[in-house]
Amino acid sequence: MKIMFLGDVMGRAGRSAITDHLPHLRKDWKLDFVVVNGENATNGSGLSADHAKAILKAGADVVTLGDHAFDQRDMLSFIEKEPRLIRPLNYAKGAPGAGARVFSDARGRKVLVAQALGQVFMKRPFDDPFSALETVLKQYPMGGQVQASLIDIHCEATSEKMAVGHYCDGRASIVVGTHTHVPTADAMILPGGTAFQSDAGMCGDYDSVIGMDKAEPLRRFITGMPKGRFNPAEGEATLSGLYVETDDRTGQATTCIMVRQGGRLSQSGPGS
Ligand SMILES: [Fe+2]
Ligand SMILES: [Fe+2]
Repeated sequence: MKIMFLGDVMGRAGRSAITDHLPHLRKDWKLDFVVVNGENATNGSGLSADHAKAILKAGADVVTLGDHAFDQRDMLSFIEKEPRLIRPLNYAKGAPGAGARVFSDARGRKVLVAQALGQVFMKRPFDDPFSALETVLKQYPMGGQVQASLIDIHCEATSEKMAVGHYCDGRASIVVGTHTHVPTADAMILPGGTAFQSDAGMCGDYDSVIGMDKAEPLRRFITGMPKGRFNPAEGEATLSGLYVETDDRTGQATTCIMVRQGGRLSQSGPGS
């Protein structure tokens, strides 16, 4: 199966890149399944129902969220109506929506998508992601219940992300990190057959500070004092993420290539 994951969509620039490019990338690269992290798509903070619909319409099969899952209030009810949205497994006990679900591609192949939040350096304390993932991986073994599985590990520390990658190695097709908005150059297939990248990067304008217009973050770093609001940078976004081919029989990854299309970053993808 040909699967693409795209990291955190950042504001209008990220949404435009998705609607402008995802439809043709889906065709050009013959993608079977696309997962997009949408936690910052609405003004950099959360995901509104309308913007979720736009990302799905552009060609995402599933949209994952993150610590900003419910920053837009309409998501509290919309997530109950739209099964293609996945919030973190360990967000909060009473959170609406689901943290893992099995989907089908156009040919009926089953794909598990799950998301967990890490604990290191996060603003709120979240439950242990390892035990949350253990339950899901046991329930949906790849090469058994599902043909492929994708885990979005949403956290700050690359160490914790790598630990999750190794923990899931051989039990998930893809483990990919999100939340830090800068792609790491460590895309690889782990020894057990799991495609891994510590951070997918964002779909946003990289002439910024992690997707925000750089003036206010710079002012706060330099002076220690806030003056204005953070606003997403509005220059051309780079679509950033991971392209993976998997073996339908075993669920293991056979190819793993970083994706960077458009905008300022050096370009990469299965076509280049
Ligand atoms: Fe994010
Ligand atoms: Fe986040």
